[in-house]
Amino acid sequence: MPMMNLQTLSLRALLFLGLWHSGRRSLASAPQLQDQPKRIAVVGAGIGGTAAAYFLRQEFGAGVKIDVFEPDTAGGRLATVKFGEHEYETGGSVIHPLNLHMKHFIEKLGIPQRKDVPTKMAIFDGKELVFEESDWFIINFLRILWRYGFNFLRMQMWVESILDKFMRIYQYQQYGYSFSSVERLLHAMGGDSFLTLMNQTLEETMRAKGFSQVFLNEIVVPITRVNYGQSVRINGFVGAVSLAGADSGLWAVDGGNKRVCTGLLYHSKSELISARVTSISIKDRPSKRGISTSFYEVNYVGESGSAHALYDIVVIATPLHQGTSDILFSGFSPPIPSHYPGRYHQTVSTLVHGLLNVSYLGTSEPASDFTVSDILTMESKGSIINSLSSLDPVHIPAAYKRPPTDQPKVWKVFSPQPLSQEQLQDMFLSYDLVSKTPWLAYPAYRPPQRKTPPFILHDRMYYLNAVEWAASAMEMSAISARNVALLAHHRWHQQVGKIDQEDLHTRLRGEL
Ligand SMILES: Cc1cc2nc3c(=O)[nH]c(=O)nc-3n(C[C@H](O)[C@H](O)[C@H](O)COP(=O)(O)OP(=O)(O)OC[C@H]3O[C@@H](n4cnc5c(N)ncnc54)[C@H](O)[C@@H]3O)c2cc1C
Ligand SMILES: *[C@@H]1O[C@H](CO)[C@@H](O)[C@H](O)[C@H]1NC(C)=O
Ligand SMILES: *[C@@H]1O[C@H](CO)[C@@H](O)[C@H](O)[C@H]1NC(C)=O
Repeated sequence: MPMMNLQTLSLRALLFLGLWHSGRRSLASAPQLQDQPKRIAVVGAGIGGTAAAYFLRQEFGAGVKIDVFEPDTAGGRLATVKFGEHEYETGGSVIHPLNLHMKHFIEKLGIPQRKDVPTKMAIFDGKELVFEESDWFIINFLRILWRYGFNFLRMQMWVESILDKFMRIYQYQQYGYSFSSVERLLHAMGGDSFLTLMNQTLEETMRAKGFSQVFLNEIVVPITRVNYGQSVRINGFVGAVSLAGADSGLWAVDGGNKRVCTGLLYHSKSELISARVTSISIKDRPSKRGISTSFYEVNYVGESGSAHALYDIVVIATPLHQGTSDILFSGFSPPIPSHYPGRYHQTVSTLVHGLLNVSYLGTSEPASDFTVSDILTMESKGSIINSLSSLDPVHIPAAYKRPPTDQPKVWKVFSPQPLSQEQLQDMFLSYDLVSKTPWLAYPAYRPPQRKTPPFILHDRMYYLNAVEWAASAMEMSAISARNVALLAHHRWHQQVGKIDQEDLHTRLRGEL
């Protein structure tokens, strides 16, 4: 083995060297203070709820019954539509190469990554394309250097440094540590600097670091617009997540990202109940020994009418906000609201099969020469779209080649409002298929964040989507799912030493 100082090897490198798979911590020494729970309810079968089912099974073992409630198809904001012969993603689409939970899931489930199709990006200012990526790396490099100096390189270094701290969460979770609030989770990863990021706008954060306004307007804004439909007034943490989403090596799941959700449901041996949860209340039942135990009564409505069931533990895996869910919590003190303050931002995802009007982008290039696949947009008066991308199917057939722009093909447009027929007719010379999905996509971020919703709603009831107020992404829901499963386990067994530990980063350094 070559000489190598382990301390200087980054955690990331170690995770790649396979530590990820070897480090299942031993549960054998855990004192069994109480019986295992018998029944657990998970509300929502998006990536958050299904990952929670997976991690809850891991924590509590084979004996517990896990029910997952979902009125629609499993996947939630991961969804596909069939368009002609192929299926396409309409919701969450790309995954970062360092999203280790998502990676772990597809490996565990034996689902391959989607085959890569090269992309080419351009930036549209509402009138014309102000930047167009070239096929030549050196040309891109020189253009960027010419226009933005070292802003670009410094941005990559800044995002990298945040990602390095972010990656600590995987080690903490590997060792079974959990956190009782979003703030504590963020603090464990990146200390006070992460809390500050959450409380400042991305613009304030980057301006304070010396990034130029031109760079923000022309590069950073287009990236936050395509990823979160919002400007650089989002918080600095989700801003950094968004910028990481412009890294290279992004991937997707072959056959559609939502396959992970159905796969996790199956793997976790939980039962999918096709019903909408309407209310949850607390019920006391006398137990055998005469002591009364409390249960959560989950009331739900499915195709065969309404019903209810009792659970020891409940995990809410849907946003509790206006328009996203409507669950009544009754009999709790302090009361639990159906909707927390703050709203979700609308992004309409429109798929169009048609012939693009390249003049709409202010270019005089003939369509046959136009090879850009992803058009990001700057903020401009009267701009109606956030992005426009040539879309490839969720499964890339052998010998697939993306059709050229002078042929009809599938485009995906993100916009804050539904596009009218006139607007579509302006953007496309002709089209024959259109599908519109209006998403309440992610929080409308307005830092400073007064108070993030809690992970712990009640004694044994947890709320996974609180994490979205730091940043909304598949991996964030997966991290939150594991955190909530660990939290539920440790609180059930009163293992307080595994909750909210300070200074884990220094303490675990020796463990590597
Ligand atoms: C257009 C768009 C693009 C995105 N792009 C990306 C991307 O490229 N990369 C990325 O990582 N993330 C992306 N995201 C974000 C990502 O999709 C979400 O963060 C993630 O999917 C959230 O998963 P979740 O399981 O926490 O919530 P959801 O997927 O919203 O799941 C909640 C589930 O709960 C169900 N539910 C609601 N109410 C009830 C009830 N009363 N009873 C029972 N069930 C209920 C819902 O039907 C839903 O299925 C994007 C999102 C959108 C909308
Ligand atoms: C194409 O876009 C240009 C610029 O927006 C517009 O003037 C023109 O009418 C469009 N063409 C068609 C056929 O809609
Ligand atoms: C963020 O700022 C608000 C208001 O300025 C404050 O109440 C809150 O404690 C801050 N949160 C963090 C995590 O620093």
